[in-house]
Amino acid sequence: MTTGKAKQPTARPARFSEEGSVEVVAESFADTPNPRLKQLMTSLVEHLHAFVKDVEPTEEEWQAAVDFLTDVGHMCDSTRQEFVLLSDVLGVSMLVNAINHRKTAGATDSTVLGPFHMVESPERELGANISLDRNGEPCVFAGQVRSSDGTPLPGARVDVWQANGAGYYDVQQPEVQPERNLRGLFVADDQGRFWLRTVVPRYYPIPDDGPVGQLLAVTKRHPNRPAHIHVIGEADGHAPLTTHVFVEGSPYLDSDTVFGVKQSLIRPVTVVDDLRRAEQYNVPNPFRLLEFDIVLEPLPARSNHEA
Ligand code: BEZ
Ligand code: FE
Repeated sequence: MTTGKAKQPTARPARFSEEGSVEVVAESFADTPNPRLKQLMTSLVEHLHAFVKDVEPTEEEWQAAVDFLTDVGHMCDSTRQEFVLLSDVLGVSMLVNAINHRKTAGATDSTVLGPFHMVESPERELGANISLDRNGEPCVFAGQVRSSDGTPLPGARVDVWQANGAGYYDVQQPEVQPERNLRGLFVADDQGRFWLRTVVPRYYPIPDDGPVGQLLAVTKRHPNRPAHIHVIGEADGHAPLTTHVFVEGSPYLDSDTVFGVKQSLIRPVTVVDDLRRAEQYNVPNPFRLLEFDIVLEPLPARSNHEA
């Protein structure tokens, strides 16, 4: 026989009613031991019920919503994450990104990771050509990695991946493109500089052959993203940065279907006529150049009291 008093669950309010739905359901989470989970569930109930009260769905509409989410789930596997894509086209991925990466002035803005960083970028020497299929207009991509105060960051790591001149990533065309095409992990020189040869990327549609694509179609939204190169910048003592550089003049800069564009991340592809620089980059003169400096935020100094 057990002794002592069994813990009584918190007293619940009245039974379910339309008017009191939030109180009744939120209260059912009152005993959640994890305070953050309790806050999340309570707020979710409040907002979800407010949404349902706002739109007053028919039962058929609610079933259609359930069927849609079921289809989204069925579309997911180890290489396809339709739920993330849904979060992307609803602007939630960018909102979570914005909330978690509020920058101090001067640091490079972040944007979404996207689904195509699914394979590791191969380590490559500075100056290497990452365009293994040569599909696109040749272009040098170069910049400097610095700390917020302007100090160059020697040895910073710069991970780059992009679509080719036809708008496809290597993993979308395993039969067509060489493995690890247009991917590279570079280590900046003693002045934090990096440079590589590539092609000018093209705009492209996000994977739109699933339920998220159907949602875009029935709402008359296009599936396209403007031309961009993905970059992850990392340096010791600094917060890693996931971002893109967008190609000035690309279609869809004003209507990116995942809302990832920030004005501060748009750069021109210029044509440079300079024999000495062409030689430096090992390219014929004149050449196209896309320049993008990366400014990383130092991590807060750890106090002596921290473990
Ligand atoms: C991308 O840029 O690779 C991307 C981002 C979000 C959704 C789909 C693709
Ligand atoms: Fe992309």
